[in-house]
Amino acid sequence: MTSKKLEKIIRDDGEFLFQNYGRLPVCFVRGKGAYLYDQDGKRYIDLFCGIAVTNFGHMHQAITKRMRQQIDSIVHSSNWFYNQEQIQAAKVLSELTFPGKTLFVNSGAEANEAAIKLVRRYGLTLSRNRYKIISFNESFHGRTFGSMSATAQKKIHDGFGPIVPGFIHLPFNDINAVRREIKRNRDIAGVFIELVQGEGGIRLTDRDYLKELFSLCNKNHIVTVIDEVQTGMGRTGRPFAYQYYGVIPDVITLAKGLAGGLPIGAVHAKSYLAEVFDKGRHGSTFGGNHVSCAAAAAALGEMKKKSFFANIQSVSDYIFAELSRLKEKYPIIREVRGMGLHIGVELTKPGLDIVKKALTRGLIINCTSENVIRIMPPLTIPLSVVKEGMKVFTRIIEEEGDA
Ligand SMILES: Cc1ncc(COP(=O)(O)O)c(C=O)c1O
Repeated sequence: MTSKKLEKIIRDDGEFLFQNYGRLPVCFVRGKGAYLYDQDGKRYIDLFCGIAVTNFGHMHQAITKRMRQQIDSIVHSSNWFYNQEQIQAAKVLSELTFPGKTLFVNSGAEANEAAIKLVRRYGLTLSRNRYKIISFNESFHGRTFGSMSATAQKKIHDGFGPIVPGFIHLPFNDINAVRREIKRNRDIAGVFIELVQGEGGIRLTDRDYLKELFSLCNKNHIVTVIDEVQTGMGRTGRPFAYQYYGVIPDVITLAKGLAGGLPIGAVHAKSYLAEVFDKGRHGSTFGGNHVSCAAAAAALGEMKKKSFFANIQSVSDYIFAELSRLKEKYPIIREVRGMGLHIGVELTKPGLDIVKKALTRGLIINCTSENVIRIMPPLTIPLSVVKEGMKVFTRIIEEEGDA
């Protein structure tokens, strides 16, 4: 039942805001840890994290403390000046990834946009027409024109006229397709890949495939870019997903969980690539904002704690065990996939009704690619809360499975 308060919010949203989002009927006003509270004070268990953003839970003490301190000192000065918070965040990022340099922007799409420009500019220093970029079917890299053109999903392109030229979309996990393309095309500058396709339905990149892909790229001086916007910041059980694969990319792009909920994006690249953006070559007014970067330094710092990853492991083991038990019993579940706490449950039918049903029962989950239920809890969630949430989910699957 919709309350009077919510009815007014929905009416005002319709009157004053673009209607480009298919919003669910709830307005959150407060959060703490793995819980969210709506306009009427009802409590929800959050197994979604605002699309993998609040990885450290809502109102994480150390991160929000750092945000508050920063707000009380300076919020914005611009990239005309030096910025210690950018340096702090970049330093920890280098320690947790690979030696290199970082460029801060404001979102995942902007991070990929900057990485596209970086790769094209680097390629063009190697030879005259070398600006082409390979990306993979069902990928998602953002909604700006460049990042959307890297995104190999027709539904994202539809209705906007021609996409940016120079992107080659190949089948996912198919090394022969890449090999053929590299052999016949000398103009390839870079490859963009997600190691778990998040918006594409939680599809995992094959480990041997990635190793071969990297070996082909290295041999042919093709820049490897891993889009860690969704998989990064501990989501898969390691700080960054590539750390499972035994490869080191030339570039990673980040956003979402990087600043514990504040808007941010980042490109972290090996230094020889960072150099191709000489002074004035790329920029952003807000990129590297003091508050976002202070929060990022604190959030990255949290990933140095062993207990953080131990929790991901035990919660992940529990959820996967529960889901495989459900899969055995209910044919409505076709497959369970994922890494760490980046989990997809592919159903034999569309999943939105299940998401809506869960919401009315105080559980926040999500559906991607029509029929994949996506479960992405805070990485700090206590096992007891996950158990509570999975009980609600199990009941719904039982009802749907018996229906
Ligand atoms: C892998 C990946 N890359 C890029 C983006 C775009 O990020 P943003 O929405 O912050 O622009 C997303 C967003 O879902 C994503 O999942």
